[in-house]
Amino acid sequence: MKIIVVGGTGIIGKAVVEELRKEHEVIAVGHNDGDYQMDIENKADIEKMFEDFKDIDGVISTTGMANAAPLYQMSDEDLDLALNNKLKGQVNLVRVALNHVKEGGFITLTTGAASHTPFPGGSAISMACAGVEGFVKAVELEKEKNIRVNVIRPTMVKESVELYNLDIPYTVSAYDTARVYKAVSEMDESGVMYNMHECLEIINK
Ligand SMILES: NC(=O)c1ccc[n+]([C@@H]2O[C@H](COP(=O)([O-])OP(=O)(O)OC[C@H]3O[C@@H](n4cnc5c(N)ncnc54)[C@H](OP(=O)(O)O)[C@@H]3O)[C@@H](O)[C@H]2O)c1
Repeated sequence: MKIIVVGGTGIIGKAVVEELRKEHEVIAVGHNDGDYQMDIENKADIEKMFEDFKDIDGVISTTGMANAAPLYQMSDEDLDLALNNKLKGQVNLVRVALNHVKEGGFITLTTGAASHTPFPGGSAISMACAGVEGFVKAVELEKEKNIRVNVIRPTMVKESVELYNLDIPYTVSAYDTARVYKAVSEMDESGVMYNMHECLEIINK
């Protein structure tokens, strides 16, 4: 398959690209780095990416930036980042990709547990994750092509927790996280929100 990974230069994305490259042709897309650069906040950039790369079987987003910020200290810039990058960026990726991805292909987005389990300082993140998930569920009712559109909710990644020196007991390695992205790209379902630990149980059986 020919697969685009937007966010393919990040902690999760790099591992996803490495895992998928064992079997597929993969284009690692970043904002400043990678095989190709674009800005997911700019719909014209997304459209240009699909003009530059044809015959795409699958698109994975492992981007979607949003800052953690306590409610009363949240800046307008924090809110704009969650809205324009994590929410609108991923929504626009689906809107454009549905016109370009091949019949039978897939689109996989990334949210997180914050979509349904809020945490202090995470209101902008929860808003954007829940928005992405609501959009993906609704897409199922109207999409005109046989393209699977799903969401993965990663658990905190071990490498991120080490990088940012966080005190989080339960983590999943970037490698195992990437194995789940690969497995989801091969599953038949569409409109599903995949929780990391449930997927790991399935693929480790
Ligand atoms: N890591 C975790 O523990 C964890 C846990 C739960 C959920 N998540 C979610 O998983 C996703 C990926 O996390 P991560 O830790 O791998 O992130 P990361 O290491 O910060 O990587 C972010 C990726 O997104 C790209 N990017 C940033 N802004 C962009 C833009 N405007 N247009 C296009 N690409 C852009 C970056 O490109 P450049 O490198 O070129 O700047 C990079 O490839 C995020 O949505 C995050 O919220 C992560």
